[in-house]
Amino acid sequence: MSVNNEGFIQIDDLDQHAADTHRPTIAERQRVDYREIAKEVGRLGEGKTYFIRTHGCQMNEHDTEIMSGMLEEMGYTPAREMYDADFILYNTCAVRENAEDKVWGNLGTLKPYKAKNPNLIIGLCGCMAQEEVVRERIRTTHPHVDIVFGTHNVHVLPSLVEQAHHSKLTIFDVWDAAHDGTIENLPKVRKDDVRAWVNIQYGCNKFCTYCIVPFTRGEERSRLPQDVIEEIKQLAAEGYKEITLLGQNVNDYGIDLEGVDFADLLELAAGVDGIERIRFTTSNPWNFTDKLIDTIARHKQIPNFIHLPVQSGSSQVLRRMKRGYTREEYLDLVSRIKTRIPDVALTTDIIVGFPGETEEQFQETVSLLEEVRYEGAFTFVYSPRAGTPATRLPDDVSEEDKKKRLYRLNEVQDGISLEQNQKLVGHVLNVLVECESKNNADVLQARTESNKLVHIEGAKTLIGQMIHVKVTEAKTWYLRGEVLPQGVIV
Ligand code: 5AD
Ligand code: SF4
Repeated sequence: MSVNNEGFIQIDDLDQHAADTHRPTIAERQRVDYREIAKEVGRLGEGKTYFIRTHGCQMNEHDTEIMSGMLEEMGYTPAREMYDADFILYNTCAVRENAEDKVWGNLGTLKPYKAKNPNLIIGLCGCMAQEEVVRERIRTTHPHVDIVFGTHNVHVLPSLVEQAHHSKLTIFDVWDAAHDGTIENLPKVRKDDVRAWVNIQYGCNKFCTYCIVPFTRGEERSRLPQDVIEEIKQLAAEGYKEITLLGQNVNDYGIDLEGVDFADLLELAAGVDGIERIRFTTSNPWNFTDKLIDTIARHKQIPNFIHLPVQSGSSQVLRRMKRGYTREEYLDLVSRIKTRIPDVALTTDIIVGFPGETEEQFQETVSLLEEVRYEGAFTFVYSPRAGTPATRLPDDVSEEDKKKRLYRLNEVQDGISLEQNQKLVGHVLNVLVECESKNNADVLQARTESNKLVHIEGAKTLIGQMIHVKVTEAKTWYLRGEVLPQGVIV
């Protein structure tokens, strides 16, 4: 082990890996233009419909936007219901077992539909497709699935659909690794009119011991800064107001390129005219530099909001997770962030019941929540993933204890979230109005800089605008607010 200039422990084999990897200069970076591939794509989807069911993270949601773009270029239109579609695609997640179980259940229900309509095409893609055990199960018990492809070759979807039309057998096209570069100019059907998501980096090099992502998404690859900025400029011209930069580990952006890092990219993105907010997800405490903190502090377009997954409050558990920092180092980072950005809103991810987690170690996680006072936390029970190093550790926490710990942790965090929200009652905040509320068309959904949901009443013409609202009520998960006459200074 060694210590980097942020004071964080570095893991030797990862350092060695980085040292062994040639970093291309920006000019050397390989990129493939999807427009070249699209020349070969026919209009096979004319008169046909598609339905994509997406599981998992924002990365998958965005892949679905890209695949929808490719299918619509082939002539497909979206189906209203899954069971009406000519092509049904499952974009899957492998991070926890319960996400996988849902997909198996759903795939099973499609068997009779395939029997009724032999022209129906069923596909499976995303992180599950990268797992050999999953492919084996498709081969043996789910032969009604027509195509299986992984996370590295989303761009070959049109050719796979074409092949599926001529084949009765399941087509497997899963690449072990991505080609050395990125695919640019991918078509997209964006789900939202106000907010857009932009990939900046693919893959993860961290190999936390519980996590399957480095195996399913491969090594970190960064898009060229000019490709990212060009996409953001185009989105600004189309009227988008908020951009979220996406990567599994965004503050590693640029480690595979010479001469650019994530803070540089954020700075460039914040400079694009017309974009009100530049968000990013997900960042890692391991290499969250002072330069990055400073960049967030300096730009009003970069909200004072950071999702900073801690995973555990115990240094011993963090060590077994191979997170690369201790509790003290994480708290030191939080205090550096809070000093430089006093009104920062922090959220986190936590895993309870990691192998060997004692009651005392769990208590350290509870006390960390109380100390940091996150606005919110995504909490999970540890789920063993085949092939990850943590499966070799004795999983000695009982299922009952895992569930109880999750419940206790959620109770603590819910209390903190409510208290944090209550502090905002009476305050005037700048919010971006996103859309109509899903449950009530008379209510609009807006979002504070700190990523909190605010329900307001107002004209639909407010959608897409930054407005001032006065917070009137606080709940655990959202706020209610009253629209103020514009021009009120916050
Ligand atoms: N079990 C439970 N939670 C996990 N996560 C990742 N892998 C696992 C696992 N094996 C959680 C982490 C991560 C979030 C996206 O999912 O908290 O930050
Ligand atoms: Fe998984 Fe860790 Fe990479 Fe996040 S940083 S994707 S938890 S390996």
